[in-house]
Amino acid sequence: MKITRFTLYLVASAAFSMASTFAQAETIKVGVIATFSGPNAIWGKQFREAIDVYVAQHGDEVSGHKVQFIYKDVGGPNADASKAAAQELLVREGVKYLAGFDFTPNAVAVAPLTKQAKVPAVIFNAATSSINKQSDFFLRTSFTLTQLAQPAAEWAAKNGAKKVVTAVSDYNPGIDAETAFSASFEKNGGAVLEKIRMPLQTNDFAPFMQRIKSSGADTVFTFLPVGPATFAFTKAYNENGLKAAGISFLGGGETDETTLDALGDQAIGLVTAYHYSDAHDSALNKSFLAKLQELHPGSRANMASIGAYDGAELIYRMIKAAGSDGVKAIEAAKGMEWESPRGPVKMDPVSRTVVQNVYLRRVEKGADGKLVNREFATVPNVPDLGFNP
Ligand code: PHB
Repeated sequence: MKITRFTLYLVASAAFSMASTFAQAETIKVGVIATFSGPNAIWGKQFREAIDVYVAQHGDEVSGHKVQFIYKDVGGPNADASKAAAQELLVREGVKYLAGFDFTPNAVAVAPLTKQAKVPAVIFNAATSSINKQSDFFLRTSFTLTQLAQPAAEWAAKNGAKKVVTAVSDYNPGIDAETAFSASFEKNGGAVLEKIRMPLQTNDFAPFMQRIKSSGADTVFTFLPVGPATFAFTKAYNENGLKAAGISFLGGGETDETTLDALGDQAIGLVTAYHYSDAHDSALNKSFLAKLQELHPGSRANMASIGAYDGAELIYRMIKAAGSDGVKAIEAAKGMEWESPRGPVKMDPVSRTVVQNVYLRRVEKGADGKLVNREFATVPNVPDLGFNP
């Protein structure tokens, strides 16, 4: 073959277009940091199963990029382990997105790294308002305690509560819950008799129940991290006779779907203000639950599932808009809105936490004998009320 300038041009342009195809169609890795071992291992399980559902429904390719999720266990609330996991994911694995973060300290610990690496970090749960102030690369698909506690307080004040004791786990999200609830409840004419802070690591709530019982309160408002603590607190509320004494219960994650069956009938009637119930009546929720059953038979969806499912949605949307460019991805994410199995959500461009409905729910036994959090009132489109830019 005679080599002309034209042949050279063809060869060069073919090589160039192949190279640019390869550059475009990269594998984009997403590092998911969560708890997969120990007493709080339910978090990692729920996150991973929901991502499985999302990928089964939407495929593992976005705009020609293959998306690969890589999971790292940090064994519970552990800031050092979370930071080390993020470092390894960024440096060794070259992840372009971080995600997961069940406990607040685990999210806070990676804030400097997300800024250095300019890598978006999608928080599937950690719910202290101030987290997102610590890095512009945080986006949150879960909720904040402030977002829930204010609607809870307003509902309580309107529905006969006059004297409340707050009882929260003594760390950042608990303090957010206590602060937001108290301010709003007092503004609406109620009195907060006592503010009890309980150690994060305890599962012995009997002494606190005695304090609540003798306080003269008509209602206890509580926050604890979903898991063994919420289960033990709710059980103690019944076993120490608070329910029998007529002290109303108002919480959030204490009737979580993953512990509800084990709580049994003692949970019936408990009221919570929350952003997701697996009994939410929508076609999208039903298809989500059906796929979860197909992939992980016997598993029950909860708020962690929905944080991860919408987190995957947000990551896919960012990849579609910006590939692996973290700065562009964050800008693109601001203001995005979509329908979630929980209802409509929108990424608030300022707080970078989803704006969403907050539902008042009551535990009921469904027709099939299963206990569910039945939504009975909706406070629409609530932003993170605790974010001060
Ligand atoms: C948190 O640490 O921010 C946290 C953990 C568990 C929850 C809610 C919030 O259920």
